Amino acid sequence: MGKAARVLPTVTATRYVTPLREGGSLPGLVEADDEGTYVVKFWAAGQGPKVLAAEIIAGELARRLGFRVPDLLMIEMDPRIARHEPDEEVQALLAASAGRNLGMDFLPGAFGFDPDAFPPDPAEAARVLWFDALINNVDRSWRNPNLLRWHRELWLIDHGAALWFHHDWSRAGTAARRPFRADDHVLARHAADPAEAHRELADGVTESVLREVVELVPDQWLVDDDSGSGASAAERRTAYVDHFLARIESAPHWVPGGAA
Ligand SMILES: Nc1ncnc2c1ncn2[C@@H]1O[C@H](COP(=O)(O)OP(=O)(O)OP(=O)(O)O)[C@@H](O)[C@H]1O
Ligand SMILES: [Mg+2]
Repeated sequence: MGKAARVLPTVTATRYVTPLREGGSLPGLVEADDEGTYVVKFWAAGQGPKVLAAEIIAGELARRLGFRVPDLLMIEMDPRIARHEPDEEVQALLAASAGRNLGMDFLPGAFGFDPDAFPPDPAEAARVLWFDALINNVDRSWRNPNLLRWHRELWLIDHGAALWFHHDWSRAGTAARRPFRADDHVLARHAADPAEAHRELADGVTESVLREVVELVPDQWLVDDDSGSGASAAERRTAYVDHFLARIESAPHWVPGGAA
């Protein structure tokens, strides 16, 4: 399990290896100057840098609550790397994503999680289900589980679709009470009682943990929007913290199965 960093480390990409074709946002695999191999989520990809903010906030909160999440870091991309890339779509993405991007430790030999082949522990499944309800993550379905099995353990990846309310802050006010539709969740059938998971984990979602997590997001990934609100990065960070504190307060509205 990765450690909880106070600042995400930065490495520089030295070689683009290959796209991860199954990823909708065209994430890629790179080698970096520390000899590590990383999955990169490019800031210039389709949905913009907000999805990278969601990856950091949700991923680092998950880590602090005891889930396994590949270590996150910043990857500096030199646009000259694009020159060696034959695929035009990838080349354009690499060239546009100069500067800082989000990286994630590559788990070699991990395979897509299949709950029928390897039934998950019911208590762990309930904790994941509870966490996805907390972060409004609609992207852990049986079609697209976004869970990996690595060294016989369950790892959480791909939180870019979580916190969807941040794409329109003007209407985000009701998100804290928004119920979670658990029917589609890949672990719904395998989970023990989510209310028990709530009792175990909710106390870990404190203001200081939330502060620590939002501080890891670079300013530019927080203020990218067309709303014209002029909100600063600091105001956005506070808005995420306030959202989570309100969501925890509103648990009876969203904990799957109720009775939290
Ligand atoms: N850290 C990792 N280690 C090993 N494989 C990974 C890792 N991260 C992602 N992958 C592989 O790459 C695929 C795409 O990654 P991810 O789901 O994060 O991208 P995405 O573009 O957000 O995907 P989508 O929107 O299609 O779900 C994953 O389904 C998984 O197979
Ligand atoms: Mg995915």
